[in-house]
Amino acid sequence: MKSAEQPSVFASVVYTPPDVIFELTKKYLTDPAEQKVNLGQGTYRDENGSPWILPCVRAAKEKIRDVNHEYLPILGLTSFRTLAAELVLGRESTALIEKRVASCQALSGTGAIHMAGKILYNALGSQTPVYITNPTWSNHRQVFASIGFLVREYTYYSETAGCLNMETVTQALNEAPPGSIFIFHVSAHNPTGCDPTQEQWKDIATIVQDRGLFPIFDAAYLGMTSGVYDRDAYAIRYFVEELRLEVAVCASFAKNMGLYGERVGLASIITRSPQEATAVESAFEQLMRAEVSNPPAFGARVAAAVLEDGELRAEWARNLTKMSSRVEEMRWALFDGLKKLETPGSWDRIVKQGGMFCLLGLTPEQVVEISIAGLNWGNVQYVAECIDQTIRPHTL
Ligand SMILES: Cc1ncc(COP(=O)(O)O)c(C=O)c1O
Repeated sequence: MKSAEQPSVFASVVYTPPDVIFELTKKYLTDPAEQKVNLGQGTYRDENGSPWILPCVRAAKEKIRDVNHEYLPILGLTSFRTLAAELVLGRESTALIEKRVASCQALSGTGAIHMAGKILYNALGSQTPVYITNPTWSNHRQVFASIGFLVREYTYYSETAGCLNMETVTQALNEAPPGSIFIFHVSAHNPTGCDPTQEQWKDIATIVQDRGLFPIFDAAYLGMTSGVYDRDAYAIRYFVEELRLEVAVCASFAKNMGLYGERVGLASIITRSPQEATAVESAFEQLMRAEVSNPPAFGARVAAAVLEDGELRAEWARNLTKMSSRVEEMRWALFDGLKKLETPGSWDRIVKQGGMFCLLGLTPEQVVEISIAGLNWGNVQYVAECIDQTIRPHTL
């Protein structure tokens, strides 16, 4: 029997500081300031600064209100998996027609990345490096490191030019050992807001193909950049359909359907042959059984109800346009506000970048990044003034 004098079993567990973004939100919530604005969190806000229930989601919830609460199949709701895979790859996808797609419902984008990572770890082994962009969403490193991968960074962004650094991206792709895994943000790169152009994606794909690298597409913001899902999915379609490459796609419905808390995601792996897809899908099933047993049903039913109904789907397309246009409008409003105040610095990057995030180019002491979705007509001028007051003393 253990006595009270014996050291705790947990004495060796090291305290881990909380994720900075969640800490910031905690501070925001307890701050009594009336004019406070949360520019930290990656969640869409409407013109009143409130969470937005998409009208298509509201209608879908009404449609499914009488469903039962039985377990889903281990790989998830079948209709959701089918519809979501068609959405991500395109309805005419040859990979789908040729049955070269293994998929599994996942715990949102994070869970999808984790599931794809586990499959690749088992297939490629622990010596395979995973390349993440610098900067990137803070969880990329954690998810792959927790699986056991060696995580390496490559420079993605040019601070001076305020845009994608194609030179360093190309260099990393050319220098990585063959077989390395690269995580690509398909659209609305977090946090830089800078995506490759279609021509740049083609160049990236050529190197990936020539050097036998493995791409994982993090598809967390499809539809949020241009407002059109298919347009934002260009890179996936090019790699899979044009070049017939093997890839993993990790799709989230958190942002583009506003289903943050429901944890709706899809992990898909596109293989060379249907036999490999069947084997990978069985591996997904094993992993899901051990980790989740049965994925959550509600959010998947909502997403499927939107995707299977022509009218709700059209409504969703309008909702995507509304979200992306509002964010774009706020980019311009912030840009104009800073111009009007003659705030020292070059602010073109605010309107050149896309999606919810924006790197302002301020020093870490000033601020690293802001979420444009937190802006609205009621606070954008105030935010511009705050930025102005932060910058000005450093430039005098
Ligand atoms: C780049 C990126 N990938 C993936 C995710 C995953 O989000 P979720 O797990 O909520 O779908 C996020 C969320 O902020 C993100 O920014």
